[in-house]
Amino acid sequence: MSTAEQWAQVDRYFIDKLVQEDQVLEATRESSGDTLFPGIDVAPNMGAFLSLLVQITGARRILEIGTLAGYSAIWMARAAGAEADVVTCELEETNAAVARANFERAGVADRVRIMLGAAADSVQSMIDQGAERFDLVFIDADKRSNPTYLDAAVQLSRPGTVIVIDNTVRGGKVIDETSEDPDIIGTRRLIDMIAEQPGLTATALQTVGMKGWDGFTLVRVG
Ligand code: DHB
Ligand code: MG
Repeated sequence: MSTAEQWAQVDRYFIDKLVQEDQVLEATRESSGDTLFPGIDVAPNMGAFLSLLVQITGARRILEIGTLAGYSAIWMARAAGAEADVVTCELEETNAAVARANFERAGVADRVRIMLGAAADSVQSMIDQGAERFDLVFIDADKRSNPTYLDAAVQLSRPGTVIVIDNTVRGGKVIDETSEDPDIIGTRRLIDMIAEQPGLTATALQTVGMKGWDGFTLVRVG
């Protein structure tokens, strides 16, 4: 068995034992095949991790950048309960249509609002309108825009807000300081920005599993 297969099997073991995925979540994950980017939604154990973060922090108002099929949004919206207020930003109408149907099916359409269009514009409009601050932000969209998204997330945060940024390891490519890949440049700039802001406390963790070798960065706004 290859190392990647072992990583995937260990993920499957933990998911099988610990992660309660109902038919709606399963169907949502499968419906990512109808989006423009099949299969890049978070793994079930990452969905459960986000759900636990929401419950541990008591987050109610949640911002997501990058909806795709709505898989992670459903995990978070359910965890936050009936009073949840989830805003999720999506560029592509094709993806948003898939997500909308999934939110209906999951019974969370009343607590999840999709902002269609470039996320940079959507978050700027919320900043301009003085939108209520978010308790938790999940950034999981085009990686080249990570600096813009972090900047907006911080402006939409209050002391104690938790920000999670997905895919900040990317098979170890994040350490390539000569990379000309805009997504790697964007992620390295993100890490620099976090490092430079004394008000942000952060760590980053590498993960291996069914999504290969990747990881995420966890930030607390001070
Ligand atoms: C990609 C994006 C993601 O958010 C992810 O989890 C995996 C891959 C990508 O753009 O390739
Ligand atoms: Mg991702």
